[in-house]
Amino acid sequence: MKMIVLYGTETGNAEMVAEDIGDALGNDYEASVHDMSRFDASQLSPDHFHVIVCSTYGDGELPNSAQPFYSALEQRRPDLSGLRFAAFGLGDSFYATYNNGSQIIADKLRELGAEQVGERGLHDASSGELPGDVALAWAKQILGTL
Ligand SMILES: Cc1cc2nc3c(=O)[nH]c(=O)nc-3n(C[C@H](O)[C@H](O)[C@H](O)COP(=O)(O)O)c2cc1C
Repeated sequence: MKMIVLYGTETGNAEMVAEDIGDALGNDYEASVHDMSRFDASQLSPDHFHVIVCSTYGDGELPNSAQPFYSALEQRRPDLSGLRFAAFGLGDSFYATYNNGSQIIADKLRELGAEQVGERGLHDASSGELPGDVALAWAKQILGTL
């Protein structure tokens, strides 16, 4: 099974996390890491497992690099039946809209028929934990269930 890691970021944290997950997955799977803004939503395929890594900006909104991907999903409404994905969010519990961004993308994928595997992983910038550490512990747990 091929792993496609897609990240949506504003200042690069989600990209670092996606690269860490991609490196870890690469030990056992064929894995590739893509910025959502450069990933064509028509390439989403049930043949692959997708890992979504996305931060939150503005007032609980998607970061810049996730917006074209989300718009393409909204406009083209591809049938994502059979597609499985897991989602990891980066946010800050300082905000009432804590980690909305990853929820927005996950909700849209599920609305289009995809199946979300496991619990959404969350990194809280106020926690003092390193995003990569939290993400790798989460990824290990999710992969154990595949
Ligand atoms: C201007 C600004 C707005 C933010 N808004 C939110 C928010 O509404 N909810 C949230 O959980 N985190 C929010 N954050 C925190 C970021 O999501 C967090 O710092 C994250 O690690 C950034 O990841 P990125 O570099 O991949 O974009 C905000 C950060 C900034 C600087």
